[in-house]
Amino acid sequence: MSESAKLSFKGQDYEFPVITGTENESAIDIAKLRASSGLITLDPGYKNTGATKSAITFLDGEEGILRYRGYRIEDLAEKSTFLEVSYLLIYGELPTQVQYENFSKEITHHTLVHEDIKKILEGFPSNAHPMGVLSSLICALTAFYPDSLNPNRNEEEINMSIIRLIAKMPTFAAWAYKNEMGHPVNYPDNSLDYCSNFLKMMFALPAEKYDVDPVVSAALDKLLILHADHEQNCSTSTVRIVGSSQASIYASISAGINALWGPLHGGANQSVIEMLEAIKADGGDAKKYLDKAKDKNDPFRLMGFGHRVYKNFDPRAKIIKKAADDVLEKLGVNDPVLDIAKELEHAALNDQYFIDRQLYPNVDFYSGIIYRALGIPTDMFTVMFALGRLPGWIAQWKEMRENGEPIGRPRQVYTGENERDYVSMNKR
Ligand code: MLT
Repeated sequence: MSESAKLSFKGQDYEFPVITGTENESAIDIAKLRASSGLITLDPGYKNTGATKSAITFLDGEEGILRYRGYRIEDLAEKSTFLEVSYLLIYGELPTQVQYENFSKEITHHTLVHEDIKKILEGFPSNAHPMGVLSSLICALTAFYPDSLNPNRNEEEINMSIIRLIAKMPTFAAWAYKNEMGHPVNYPDNSLDYCSNFLKMMFALPAEKYDVDPVVSAALDKLLILHADHEQNCSTSTVRIVGSSQASIYASISAGINALWGPLHGGANQSVIEMLEAIKADGGDAKKYLDKAKDKNDPFRLMGFGHRVYKNFDPRAKIIKKAADDVLEKLGVNDPVLDIAKELEHAALNDQYFIDRQLYPNVDFYSGIIYRALGIPTDMFTVMFALGRLPGWIAQWKEMRENGEPIGRPRQVYTGENERDYVSMNKR
């Protein structure tokens, strides 16, 4: 017998079905709440609201579990590749050899972008933040592929948009950086793998020979896997809600990039390094800043510690910490900012104040460190996050569409003025 939950209000009882997921998490289905009782629910930030049923990513914040399509993140980070994980997220299963080769081939084939996109790029001032440039160029794809404006296209056409997005995003990301540097853009090199091609487009200069360091490329691939999806976070919910209006997939992904940009979401890894640099500029005393973080009256906040849903540890942070240690050792990086990071990490992990409040270094803390060690400039960190999150956004957009989800339209509790008469200007 299916379970239900009862609600009593003003002497009347109402009964609502309880939906149980495959990992036994339960939700009260309140779709008929307003129609039956006149009530709505109020949950600012939707922290307690299930916006959808999804079969893509499972996350248990209490146990520190993260799985894509049932596969443990630890296994995927160790054994898979970013393109294989992208396929898994978007199509639901790990690809066969043939499926993987076709998928990679298609993506490699579409890395080049329309030459006119360069004109749009050239219109940006060089101090434009690369996230703004990236979201604009992704949205501009609606103009170059106007068929994408029809949400009811056939699967083949939808698939082509998906391939284009994964193929062209590294080109746009690298070009956003080139614009900032005032360097000429590099065209894709389709003889390289996904991450090596991106690194070459980003770092190569016409005047010098550039060889991609395989350590850097492998580390980047792992980072992208770890960021590939995280169920209904802010940017993913944005992609789903924009897509629910039947806007083009490019417009939906562009909106997701903008949502990711904020320092409370993907921008956190940039904030971590900015915080470490500020600590260094102030003498490099990590202990002083830990004390400031504990002081309720001090506005200083530690960036990159704790997480909204992980209450004990973030499984991605564990993997990234090890990867960061390996990369720092392999590349022989010597950087005082990273020394401060290590000191903060060590002190916080052993300080009862931080232990009691579950303020452990999170994925943004370590990804900031590793990106810096890889030579990625600070304001490109969030762009790297966007590169990684892309297949997750696509998978969630596709699922939303295939499930025929209705347009997202939350309600509100109105707290403004009651009805009043218009007052002419000379009487105000
Ligand atoms: C993410 O990966 O999207 C972040 O950890 C934020 C979140 O899940 O809320």
